[in-house]
Amino acid sequence: MYNVWDCKIVDLSKVHNEAGNITVLENNKNIPFDIKRIYYLYDVPMGADRGGHGHYDLQQYIVAASGSFTFVLDDGVNKNEFFLNDPSKALHIQPGIWREIKGFSSGSICLVLASHEYNESDYIRDYDEFIKYKNDTQII
Ligand code: TYD
Repeated sequence: MYNVWDCKIVDLSKVHNEAGNITVLENNKNIPFDIKRIYYLYDVPMGADRGGHGHYDLQQYIVAASGSFTFVLDDGVNKNEFFLNDPSKALHIQPGIWREIKGFSSGSICLVLASHEYNESDYIRDYDEFIKYKNDTQII
């Protein structure tokens, strides 16, 4: 079982030239899992908060493809905040971590690479249930 200190900012590296940058994401190369799903959050109104859930099995790489936002991660004991604003970096969120997302800048795009297809039964949407799950399963 993972805690927030297992969730880290990862350098994706970039191919730079004067006409712009390219960052490449490849299964099991600079992404340590098979990408089964890609989605992105956009047109998020200023002041809106998202997230507010955990996952039993899903792991994700989060990239600020444009703009900036903040992920607040919580393992039931510790919290850690990550400000994302660099498309050449990703936040690796391990399974079993509660997340809140806040502070979306105007026009921001939150790109998510996910280890599993969408499955509502992998979500823990109730915080008390999340804490119970962590207490029942995790030695932090
Ligand atoms: P959710 O993951 O709760 O959004 P966020 O964490 O960004 O606040 O998803 C919001 C809604 O979108 C929810 O009703 C489920 C749906 N959804 C899908 O149908 N497929 C997906 O791959 C995702 C990520 C969400």
